[in-house]
Amino acid sequence: MTPKARRTRKPFRLAILTGGGDCPGLNAVIRAAARSAFALGWEVFGVEDGFEGLLTRRVNQLHPRAVRGILHLGGTILGTSNRVNPFRVDRRGAGGAKQAPTDRSADVVRNFKAMGFDALIAIGGDGTLSIALQLALKGIPVVGVPKTIDNDIEQTSVTFGFDTAVSTATDAIDKLHPTTEAHGRVMVVELMGRNAGFIALNSGVAGGADVILIPEVPFDLDLVCDKIREREKGHRGGYFSIVVVAEGARSKGGQVHLRATDKGETPRFGGIGQWVAEEIGRRTGKETRSLVLGHLQRGGPPTTFDRLLGTRFGAAAVRAVADGDFETMVALKPPTIVRVPLKVAVGGGRTKRVPLDSDVMQSARGLGISFGD
Ligand code: F6P
Repeated sequence: MTPKARRTRKPFRLAILTGGGDCPGLNAVIRAAARSAFALGWEVFGVEDGFEGLLTRRVNQLHPRAVRGILHLGGTILGTSNRVNPFRVDRRGAGGAKQAPTDRSADVVRNFKAMGFDALIAIGGDGTLSIALQLALKGIPVVGVPKTIDNDIEQTSVTFGFDTAVSTATDAIDKLHPTTEAHGRVMVVELMGRNAGFIALNSGVAGGADVILIPEVPFDLDLVCDKIREREKGHRGGYFSIVVVAEGARSKGGQVHLRATDKGETPRFGGIGQWVAEEIGRRTGKETRSLVLGHLQRGGPPTTFDRLLGTRFGAAAVRAVADGDFETMVALKPPTIVRVPLKVAVGGGRTKRVPLDSDVMQSARGLGISFGD
């Protein structure tokens, strides 16, 4: 079917799903995509809980009232899941024992066609978009929308959700400042981001941190302690320091800190903040405290920037569908929204990292912020 025929055949049926961890701005994308589609006379369907909904046919038609009043809401009205990959669906045997995963992608393609859908907008991070690419190669017409608080997706200068997470983290650092200073302590704040240090770097700089530890710069704790001691000089009775550490940071020659998970599950980051705090305390004799900001970074209403970017992405994704420009991802290349091939964005399995020569890094170093290197 040509793109023109696709546009003129009535009614065009558009499915939308959100996959992976939620992030502020998802509802802005859903609303913008749905409203743009309604304006073209299309029918819109919301898939529940990411790819799980396509496997189990949990899909509901979205009418205009379903997307009313959601622009400013965090979370996702569709639900999401970061557990179900149709190409590797977990199976449990007798007694709940895990068995080798099975490929159920053919069921997803069959369900998609049986429900009469013409196109899918998949909103997600690198995991969701990689699955979307594989499904596109199996015949599902897909347009991707990049989301993640981590800002680690290639080919887009930024993802929605990141600005909100950085604002939340900066706000937390602001609130920690007075109590840390009052007690002359060292406060270590662990922030999310997986293997990318964007949240820690940006909020650390914006919040006036003294030390920022990110995955891109393996650190030496002795140098971190030197920085803390240097801040003590000339201050009788102790002086405070704020250390921001990304969950994926690691010391030189050390390992990333992962939480114990069930066998076969994707390991989750966590624990580096407490370790850094304890080590600083042991090596400097300073009183230390640590805080894991955790999922607060994914919560709350999206900032103006994220609402606007989400809205622009959602509307641009529908324009891509209308043009029949599938196997693409919408992306921000300031000042415009562009389309990039999905396989260029996520096909190589690479994620974006903080460029060490970025102006934010240079400015931070110029201000005397220590990266422990
Ligand atoms: O990718 C977003 C993110 O919030 C990461 O920063 C974090 O490591 C992970 O998701 C946490 O995932 P979950 O919600 O499964 O705990």
